[in-house]
Amino acid sequence: MLQTLRNGRFLTFVFAVAFALLSTDQCTAQSDTTASGATSDATRENGDWTNVQKILNHRCVVCHSCYDAPCQLKLTSPAGLLRGASKEAVYHTERLKDAQTTRLGIDAQTVPGWRALGFYPVLPSSETTGEAGTVLERYLELGRQSPLKANAPVPTELGLSIDRPLACPTTQEFDAFSSANPKAGMPYATAPLNDIEYQMLMSWIQSGAPLPSAAPEIPENIQIQIAEWEAFLNASDLRHQLMGRYLYEHLFLARLHFPAGEPRQFFQLVRSASPPGSKIEIIATRRPFDDPGAEPFYYRL
Ligand code: HEC
Repeated sequence: MLQTLRNGRFLTFVFAVAFALLSTDQCTAQSDTTASGATSDATRENGDWTNVQKILNHRCVVCHSCYDAPCQLKLTSPAGLLRGASKEAVYHTERLKDAQTTRLGIDAQTVPGWRALGFYPVLPSSETTGEAGTVLERYLELGRQSPLKANAPVPTELGLSIDRPLACPTTQEFDAFSSANPKAGMPYATAPLNDIEYQMLMSWIQSGAPLPSAAPEIPENIQIQIAEWEAFLNASDLRHQLMGRYLYEHLFLARLHFPAGEPRQFFQLVRSASPPGSKIEIIATRRPFDDPGAEPFYYRL
């Protein structure tokens, strides 16, 4: 394998350089592929989601994508929508202690895990039943009620400075928020959604906001390559250990792509508590060179 690296085949293992500034999950869609081999029900859901995703990509992810998205609401993937929003600002200069990291796909793996880290829902779910519309719905309605004037400057009461404090209202706080900020609907400070976009988002939310459930399938030829790479990265002799660590510490931010695979399928190199062949259990250290703990760990793709 080292030979392979030396003779350049390594370069075919292309680095899709989604190098972001601070974390592995900043400005990229987490898993923007939908399930394949789905049942007819799921196909319909994926159909709806495909349209919804187009609107979100077109009108919302320009703001709601990076690690420091407003209210940490990432609209780039089903996982981001399910996680919801948080009042905790990711960057602020007066913090004296390390913040709890909230990297999507890394620091919690389940919705209850995110709730424990202070995130609240924006989609309809068992958590929001009985509430007067979800935050997402209320914000879109607000944008619809007071659209900004076309070809006119953004009204001064709409804050745009990068370090202004955000309200990030929960559903319970939304009435007070919207009467104090009638122009703050979504999409924020930009042209309103057109009728079709608005109806599509609203009817998707009102039908329970179905999301694709299954993880995208990995084609067999790619699985074989993944297995080869994992075997190489986890070989136990000292030389391989050094190489594995070197590659991980240089590539932990990269999105990796196999040329023979789906054009938009990307992989990440992570440290996992579980060995190749089993479900990845990410070891969520703050930095790639932090101690992974006393138990054995494995590099996984
Ligand atoms: C130009 C940037 C921008 C765009 C585009 C944008 N948003 Fe926002 N969004 C914001 C800001 C800023 C906030 C926080 C407002 C506050 O709390 O003061 C926010 C907050 C939200 C929240 C509330 C989270 C919470 O905690 O209450 C939702 C939901 C939301 N946006 C959905 C959307 C949707 C859906 C779209 C696309 C249709 C969209 N946004 C487009 C900037 C944007």
